[in-house]
Amino acid sequence: MLKVGLLGAGRIAGVHATAITTNPGSTLVAVSDINTEAAAKLAAQYGAEARSTDAILNDPAIDAVLIATSTDTHSDLIERATAAGKAVLCEKPVDLSLARAQACQQVVAKNGKPVMIGFNRRFDPNFSALKAALEKGEIGKAELLSITSFDPAPPPVAYIKVSGGLFRDMMIHDFDMANYIMGAAPVSVSAVGSSIVDPAIGAAGDVDTAVVTLTYADGRIAVIKNSRRAVYGYDQRVELLGSEGLLQAQNMLENTVVKSTTAGVTGAKPTYFFLERYMPAYAAEWAAFVTAVNAGSALPVTLADGVAALAMAEAATLSAKSGQPVTLASVLG
Ligand SMILES: NC(=O)c1ccc[n+]([C@@H]2O[C@H](COP(=O)([O-])OP(=O)(O)OC[C@H]3O[C@@H](n4cnc5c(N)ncnc54)[C@H](O)[C@@H]3O)[C@@H](O)[C@H]2O)c1
Repeated sequence: MLKVGLLGAGRIAGVHATAITTNPGSTLVAVSDINTEAAAKLAAQYGAEARSTDAILNDPAIDAVLIATSTDTHSDLIERATAAGKAVLCEKPVDLSLARAQACQQVVAKNGKPVMIGFNRRFDPNFSALKAALEKGEIGKAELLSITSFDPAPPPVAYIKVSGGLFRDMMIHDFDMANYIMGAAPVSVSAVGSSIVDPAIGAAGDVDTAVVTLTYADGRIAVIKNSRRAVYGYDQRVELLGSEGLLQAQNMLENTVVKSTTAGVTGAKPTYFFLERYMPAYAAEWAAFVTAVNAGSALPVTLADGVAALAMAEAATLSAKSGQPVTLASVLG
């Protein structure tokens, strides 16, 4: 039984508390948050103790920590947790700064403890089925990937200001999805971004609408489209054209009823947002972590994957500003 400490008691921590407590291989021992009231509330809800982060990290009975705190704390907490001998699952992104994330990677290599980054979409049953079909050769060789990722509504501007920007905060998931499906990092990143959903997002120095093109060493291409607003719900689709066919992962819908009348044919909207769409993915992500840590086997998503996606976010941010393609090699240094 994996004994777990949960760092953070905010929005995504609640999702992870459910995954930890419903998995038969793990138990939630304690929760910490700088907001001690939030920690006490979440801990009580799941039959765990509220403690300080230090108390969790210093407890030899705790095997693993799940880091679900604000992004600017991730690298520091990953370093402290691995130094304390814990296995770690940390939410995305690794950090707001690529250089800081790379430094964290070196510390983790020394500490020698497993670290997984929470790219939950790899565990979405639709996207993993698409990947499995590709691996079995069902559409031949991948050639052109298209990822659509639209949020239903933008977050508050206060959140945008500390998020690191759309490419680091939101498109980071799609960069990782591209790496997962294509099985390689691109050579070059070209981005255009605009703030047409909410001018206040532009005033805060960010974009709310963006398209990125990734080019690969062997000539393959991927296109990622992001918007902070899709009025019909959370739009999350992947399309992959291969030499012998096409794979498409469509949205999950609120229901499967299609109404056909003389007026036309209509169906249900996509499920609302990530809490509705990705609950099975968060549970599968945690299950994969528990299985790998218990078996001492390789983690399905690594800290290196987190750094790779962050490097693409950095390149996209620079490209959107300059209007020029940016090579990954130039940002990785
Ligand atoms: N994978 C996903 O689908 C997904 C979805 C949402 C958020 N996230 C990521 O999860 C992280 C948290 O996001 P959220 O939406 O839950 O935010 P949130 O603001 O709701 O929660 C963050 C919590 O961390 C606490 N905190 C901040 N610094 C801390 C510290 N040093 N020690 C202990 N607690 C601290 C805050 O008090 C807050 O309660 C972010 O990095 C975000 O990018 C991932």
